[in-house]
Amino acid sequence: MTVATGERAGAVHVSGELLDTKRIGAFRHLTVVAPGVPERFRPGNFVAISLGDSSFLARRSYWVHRVRPVGGYGAAIQLVVDPNGVGGAWLAGLPAGSRIKVTGPLGRPFALPKEPVSCLLVGEGYSAAPLFPLAERLRERGCAVTMVVAGADEAHLLSSLEARRSVRAVTVVTADGSVGQKGRVAGVIEEALARSQAEVVYAAGPHDTLHAVAAAAEAHGAWSQTAVEVPQPCATGLCHGCPVPVVGEDGVARVARACSDGPVLRGDRVRWGDLG
Ligand SMILES: Cc1cc2nc3c(=O)[nH]c(=O)nc-3n(C[C@H](O)[C@H](O)[C@H](O)COP(=O)(O)OP(=O)(O)OC[C@H]3O[C@@H](n4cnc5c(N)ncnc54)[C@H](O)[C@@H]3O)c2cc1C
Ligand code: FES
Repeated sequence: MTVATGERAGAVHVSGELLDTKRIGAFRHLTVVAPGVPERFRPGNFVAISLGDSSFLARRSYWVHRVRPVGGYGAAIQLVVDPNGVGGAWLAGLPAGSRIKVTGPLGRPFALPKEPVSCLLVGEGYSAAPLFPLAERLRERGCAVTMVVAGADEAHLLSSLEARRSVRAVTVVTADGSVGQKGRVAGVIEEALARSQAEVVYAAGPHDTLHAVAAAAEAHGAWSQTAVEVPQPCATGLCHGCPVPVVGEDGVARVARACSDGPVLRGDRVRWGDLG
């Protein structure tokens, strides 16, 4: 099976407009007109948002969840914001019509298989956001797509209804059992892999979830791609403040920059035990 490299597209820095903001479950969904970003976007890219108050030191990174046509504006990007935390609360509290400084699309996107193989997509919480446009792209290529959508509870599950409508099979798992199976991704990943017979596994979520998925994929002989979130002070590859311990193709331990060498990295290359 051949997998294309996830090549980066050039980023733009633009003053965007918040077109629409609505609460869905525990998250805020934002539709942002950011000229130049939708055209360059590939699934797995993120944007860096400058926070408006000068007391915030860094920008914050957000997955692009969707690119949608909007009347009169061309296309807009959709973001999913967890309002817990200083930056998230600021962004979630902005009214429609606000101006937002957006840099993107950033990062190395998901690599796509060249053949129409079976793919398993595993997402937890807001981090599942980049998997939905990925599912669309994989389906266009004739891939059979199945998903595991996980969250702490029903409110923290992202778009599970949409997942049910758009992919072949979905496993829903919540930590409190409020919907779907009760538990964590680590408890269902083996069965999901066996059932889907996936050759490629894509995962986005907390580090322990990514680790569990990468290990299970390797045990099943599947190829895994993990979307790794670590704090990103600059998000553009300059400051080296987003280290991810990896093993290079030559077997030598190295440190990758999450923002520019990733955030999508091969699951079998990340040294999960050393990732803070
Ligand atoms: C590639 C990427 C994509 C992301 N996509 C989303 C998304 O779609 N929706 C969303 O709500 N959040 C996303 N995050 C996390 C987001 O960027 C913020 O870092 C997180 O919301 C915490 O910031 P805060 O100011 O709200 O919270 P605070 O707790 O006030 O953050 C304090 C500091 O911790 C860092 N930090 C805390 N948690 C994280 C985390 N999980 N990842 C990175 N940095 C963290 C922040 O950079 C900040 O410097 C993403 C992060 C990365 C790296
Ligand atoms: S955040 Fe600065 S190099 Fe990655």
